[in-house]
Amino acid sequence: MLLNGNPESRISILDRGVQYGDGLFETIAVAGGEPCLWQRHMQRLEQGCRRLKIDFPEDDNLLLEVYREINGRSQGVIKIILTRGSGGRGYAPPANQKSTRLVYYSEWPEYPAGFSQSGVRVHLCDLRLGRNPALAGLKTLNRLEQVLARGEWSDPDIAEGLLQDGEGNLIEGTMSNLFLIHNRNLSTPDLGFSGVAGVMRQVVMEQAGRLGIPLAVKMLKMRDLLSANGLFLTNSLIGIWPVREVNAKKYDPEAVSPSLVDAVMCRGFRFE
Ligand SMILES: Cc1ncc(COP(=O)(O)O)c(C=O)c1O
Repeated sequence: MLLNGNPESRISILDRGVQYGDGLFETIAVAGGEPCLWQRHMQRLEQGCRRLKIDFPEDDNLLLEVYREINGRSQGVIKIILTRGSGGRGYAPPANQKSTRLVYYSEWPEYPAGFSQSGVRVHLCDLRLGRNPALAGLKTLNRLEQVLARGEWSDPDIAEGLLQDGEGNLIEGTMSNLFLIHNRNLSTPDLGFSGVAGVMRQVVMEQAGRLGIPLAVKMLKMRDLLSANGLFLTNSLIGIWPVREVNAKKYDPEAVSPSLVDAVMCRGFRFE
């Protein structure tokens, strides 16, 4: 693990990331020894830093640190954590901040092959996400909602949980973004008030556009989920998982366009 570029596995208890979750993170797939979708991850991190007024590190340094951590391994996961650093009085951000950055490698998570081929079972979570446009879209270190939601099921056959906000809008999975399919049309929730704007979601939107698949970004409700003939989930590590069941209601995992899956799996797992 690299802490501000130096090998270190401990972080100060005074760091604001530990104290307040005052920071951001990125989880990046490593394929063929390269960090996939690098530019997009850096764009989201930089945009998050701008919105939260956290110093953004030189991304050349970050990339060198990422390669040091990958250390010649072909497949795996890189996590980057960036906090506002230490200091300040209570919640007040310090006048002279120096962000803390952590870069570390972990093994590739081996999900069952059936998840991407025959689809996953999904639990509809009771927990409702808060609505906060100041944080919406960002991948902040505050993940308590996801921790509570993920605690709602223990059946290993259920791969993911779906989350609504306090007004009953469908938002995303606990660790993924959501797309609904009605005939050939795709829709994905508007993330203006809650949720993380995933880099793989962005890849799906671009590839759908390229393939001429109609796609709408809008507020989605339970009735849209119930009337859908298919749905799928995305993130940087899973790519696309078709869904075959949400709380015992069956969906057709083959409703997901194979050409979209091919395009996303091809674009989503390379260094760009
Ligand atoms: C809550 C949440 N939403 C969405 C995503 C998908 O983001 P990405 O496509 O950038 O991996 C993640 C990824 O971990 C997540 O934790």
